[in-house]
Amino acid sequence: MRKLIFVLFLLVGICACPAAGAQSESPTTQSKPSAMQSKSPATQSKSSTMKAKSSATQSKPAATADVRHWWQNAVFYEIYPRSFADSNNDGIGDLNGITSKLDYLHELGVDAIWITPFFPSPQVDFGYDVSDYENIDPIYGSLADFNQLQAAAQQRDIRVVLDLVLNHTSDQHQWFIDSRSSRNSKHRDWYIWRDGKGPNQPPNDWLSLFGGPAWTFDPKTNQYYYHFFYPQQPDLNWRNPAVKDAMFDVTHFWYDRGVAGFRLDAVDTLFEDPKLHDNPILPGKNAFGDANMEDQYNRNLPEIHEVLKGLRKIADKYDAVLIGETWTTNIDQLKNYYGANKDELELPMDFMFTMVDKLSPTEFRKQIAALNSAGGWPVYLIGNHDIERSYNRYGDGKHNDAIAKVMAGMYLTLRGTPIMYYGEEIGMQNNDPKTKAEVKDPKGKLGWPQDKGRDGERTPMQWNDKVNAGFSKTRPWLPVADNYRTHNVASELKDPNSILVFYHRLLELRHTTPALLEGDYVALNETDPNVMSYLRSYKDKAVLVVINMSAEPQQVRFDLAPQGFSASEAKTLLTTMSGMTGQIREMTLEPFSVYMGEVSR
Ligand code: NOJ
Ligand code: CA
Repeated sequence: MRKLIFVLFLLVGICACPAAGAQSESPTTQSKPSAMQSKSPATQSKSSTMKAKSSATQSKPAATADVRHWWQNAVFYEIYPRSFADSNNDGIGDLNGITSKLDYLHELGVDAIWITPFFPSPQVDFGYDVSDYENIDPIYGSLADFNQLQAAAQQRDIRVVLDLVLNHTSDQHQWFIDSRSSRNSKHRDWYIWRDGKGPNQPPNDWLSLFGGPAWTFDPKTNQYYYHFFYPQQPDLNWRNPAVKDAMFDVTHFWYDRGVAGFRLDAVDTLFEDPKLHDNPILPGKNAFGDANMEDQYNRNLPEIHEVLKGLRKIADKYDAVLIGETWTTNIDQLKNYYGANKDELELPMDFMFTMVDKLSPTEFRKQIAALNSAGGWPVYLIGNHDIERSYNRYGDGKHNDAIAKVMAGMYLTLRGTPIMYYGEEIGMQNNDPKTKAEVKDPKGKLGWPQDKGRDGERTPMQWNDKVNAGFSKTRPWLPVADNYRTHNVASELKDPNSILVFYHRLLELRHTTPALLEGDYVALNETDPNVMSYLRSYKDKAVLVVINMSAEPQQVRFDLAPQGFSASEAKTLLTTMSGMTGQIREMTLEPFSVYMGEVSR
């Protein structure tokens, strides 16, 4: 089906040549990579959800050193379930809604979906406050709905990755309810309880990321409990082995239901200094009016790595992937998350790349080189449910659609695994609350107006130009962004120049071009401040990627002889420019444009 749509676009003649010459040569890339995974014994024996397996899924090649893991070639797609598709028209997206859109995702070229938490939760942090790790919140559906989603995804060779909130639970979780009930309760030591320093004085100066002190006094037992996030999200005590055992059991529960891995929430906050040293105070105040602080004693503690090693041992039994929410500030930290023996996270999400908030080839090159030097398999993303949408962050207000293609053209052709954010492929924009009264994210209420919270990047997916953008027949929980009339799936599928059609073509190219999947990254013209150019080189072929990140036309010249490619012409694979030829000795690029061509040795 995906192929059919692609062919359709070609007939419409959007741009130059298809990826025809770029068929797979390598046995490891001949079929869609996500279809290469065999199931662990545990999943093989699993119920009906496992029955609808594609034939490709059953044919994993023998594990040799050069066979790639499925997650290296996969394109991941993050779904914020409240906002993706509402099947029962209560204004909130749900699991059946996701199931109904799997064909869309398959045709787009998505191999794995990461769904943010849908477990029972009071929804203070919209699911990141979990009150039961082994069930589904009724607003999102039931376990039966999940099984159906999992089976339907598997039929389409789409893997399902869940979000595991390890650092904290909801204050409504039975563990915490018991923990706070008495100092002698069974679960008392599952959380972090301490006496205050003195009357009305918390144990130390640590602050919550979402504003105010990281300690809340509980009069019932006259102690404070610790929470890095909202007070309704008490931190678990990972120094207690019972906590580890319980959470590891949770992963088995879901692996046995066929999930392909986890995105690990806030892993850098699992451990705290047991002596509770005060953190250093930095100059200035944050949006909540608190002093800026260096989280020296409650973030990135080395003990985290033992937990990750343990999680990885289980994951490996299922050929599952671990993606980490790892807010690394330097490459040494990032290296540590892969593990000294590559025995921790496979895909630590690197936000250093995301934090390049401008179209700067110089900065991107720097980040890519740094990431490649970490020695692990890189992960690339340009947005998520906590960050302003990429459409606004990189856009200049005038050329946002072209810039959306520029960003996609880059991060989806780098050596590494990309994680898309829902709606990015249609150019969804941020829709921040206009008044404090409208804000749903508690941190936006506290930080208003400096920090408006994260509602803006979490608005309903824009499926069509009809009422509520086709997301729901009822008023959605967050207002649809204004651009839904022009930027929606139905309209963009009909427009050969749309962002969505560009994504389709790009992902098709990525899936069918060995150099884009497996090739080395070689930076070109490294001093050019406007044009980002690189080769993805594999065996006797390479893809030349050239991206003009400026508002002016640019001239570029390439001599690829040092890289072993003497041809003066590339075979155009994909470009946003009309009438573009592959004369690489001298190319004139339109403003904010993308060119990809194949060169051979
Ligand atoms: C990171 C998640 O991405 C964010 O949405 C959440 O609020 C915090 N972790 C706390 O779980
Ligand atoms: Ca619903």
